[in-house]
Amino acid sequence: MDTQELRDEISRLVREYSRRQHRSNRSGDDSDRAEFIPGKTPVPYAGRVFDEDEVEAAVGSVLDFWLTLGPEGERLERGLAEFLGVRNSLLVNSGSSANLVAMSALTSPKLPKQRRVMPGDEVITVAAGFPTTVAPIIQCGATAVFIDADPVTGNPKCHQLEDAYCSGKTKAVMMAHALGNPFDLKTTLEFCRQHDLWLIEDNCDALGCRYTLSGATQYTGSWGDLSTQSFYPPHHLTMGEGGAVNVVKQAALKVIVESFRDWGRDCWCASGKDNTCNKRFGWQLGELPQGYDHKYIYSHLGYNLKPLDIQAAIGTRQLEKLPRFIEARKSNWQKLRKGLADFEDLLEFSLPTHATSWNPDGDFSWDSSGCRTDCSWFGFKISVKPQAGFTRTQLAKHLDEHLIGNRMLFGGNLLRQPAFTTLRRENPSSIRVVGDLAGADRIMNDTLFIGTYPGLSQEMIDYTISTIADFCRG
Ligand SMILES: Cc1ncc(COP(=O)(O)O)c(C=O)c1O
Repeated sequence: MDTQELRDEISRLVREYSRRQHRSNRSGDDSDRAEFIPGKTPVPYAGRVFDEDEVEAAVGSVLDFWLTLGPEGERLERGLAEFLGVRNSLLVNSGSSANLVAMSALTSPKLPKQRRVMPGDEVITVAAGFPTTVAPIIQCGATAVFIDADPVTGNPKCHQLEDAYCSGKTKAVMMAHALGNPFDLKTTLEFCRQHDLWLIEDNCDALGCRYTLSGATQYTGSWGDLSTQSFYPPHHLTMGEGGAVNVVKQAALKVIVESFRDWGRDCWCASGKDNTCNKRFGWQLGELPQGYDHKYIYSHLGYNLKPLDIQAAIGTRQLEKLPRFIEARKSNWQKLRKGLADFEDLLEFSLPTHATSWNPDGDFSWDSSGCRTDCSWFGFKISVKPQAGFTRTQLAKHLDEHLIGNRMLFGGNLLRQPAFTTLRRENPSSIRVVGDLAGADRIMNDTLFIGTYPGLSQEMIDYTISTIADFCRG
C-alpha cells in the first residue's frame, strides 16, 4: 500500500469505529442514536453532538501533524466569519480567552487616546451570567459597572445603561446574549453611538441568533465592534476547548486582536510564514535598533491563546452542521414550551427579547420597538414562581434524581460570588453597581435551565416534560 492507500484505509476504519462507538453522541433525530431508556439513560442539558465526520477530520489532522493553528484553522476562521457576516474571526483556545483578548484589544496604545480603555476607566456589564464575561474588564485594570438583568429574558436591563454612564470614564459596554436570547441591541447600539463607546458582544451562548433592527436582520455577534464565541462542548458547535474573537468591521482591530492572541507581537505573519509586510528588516519601533527583525517586535503585553489545528479540523466539520443544530435547538425549545404550557401558574418561562407573549402556535407577540429576535436557544430557562409551593432547588433535585441535566444560569448574581465579595472588600474601586440588582438575585434564587441541544431525541423531551409535569402536580 502507498501512503494515500494507507490513509484511505485508516479513514475507513476510523469512520466504522466511530459509527459503532459513539452512538450516544449522534443528533437526537438520527436513527443510529443509542436507545433511550427513560429513568436509566441520562438526559444531558448539553454535550458534544458529532458523528464519524468529526472523528475522521481529527484523525486526518493528526496524520497531517501540522499541530499548530494552520490550514484547518484558516478554513474555520474564514467559514465562521462568512457565516456571521463579519470581517474576521480569529480562533482562540476558549470563550474566556476570547473575552480576555477582546477586552485587552481595547487597551491598545494603537487606538485613539480618547477611546482607549485605561486603568480607572469604566466598562458597563451585567450582573447575572458567566464570570469570564466580566473578569477581563477588571483584569485589564478598568472598573466593571454592573446593571441588572431581567429574569424573564435573562438579559441585561438595557434601559439602565444611561444610569450607568459616567462622562469621561465610560469607554465600553461588554455583555452576553443570555442563553441564546439576544439582548436589546437597539437600545445598546443607540447608547454606544451617542457616547462613542465600544461594544463587545459576548456571543458565546448565542451562535445563530438573529436580530432585526430597522428592517435589517443580522446574526448576533455582528452588531458591535468585537464579539466572542465559545466552542466548549455545551455550545452551539464544539472543538473540545476553543473559541473565537470576531472583528465586525475594523481592520485596525483585527491586527490588535491578533497581536494580543499571539504573544503581543507587532508582526502579523501567519504561522510558518515570513515577511508578509515586505519589510521584515525595515522597521524601527520603540527603542529597538533600525532593522530589528519584525517577527520579534512586541507592541502589546500579549498572550499565546491559540488552539491546535486538530481542534479547528473538528470545528470545521461542526460548522457544516451548524444550520441543522440551530434548527434543532429552536424546535426543542418550542416542544418544551408547548409541553409545559399548563404550568404557567407555577413556572415562568423565558421570552425572547422584545416578545411580549408566547402563543400556543409557537409564534410570539412583539413590543412596539419594531425589533425582532430569533433565538438560537442555548437552554430552556425556567423560573419558579413565588406562589409555586416548591423551590427552584427542589425542582433541580427532582430533575437530578430522574437523570435530567439542569444548570443554574451560571454564576447567578455574580456580585454575590466569593471572587467578587473579596474584590469588593480588597479592591472596591474595581466594581460599581447601578440599582439593587433584584433581577439578578431572582435569577440566582429561582431560576434553572434544562437542555435544548441537538442531541435530545423526542423521547428525551417527552420524558423531561412528563417528569416536570409530575413534579408540578405534586
Ligand atoms: C456567556 C459566556 N461567556 C463566556 C464563556 C466562557 O467560555 P469557555 O468555557 O469556552 O471559556 C461561557 C461559558 O460557557 C459563557 O456562557
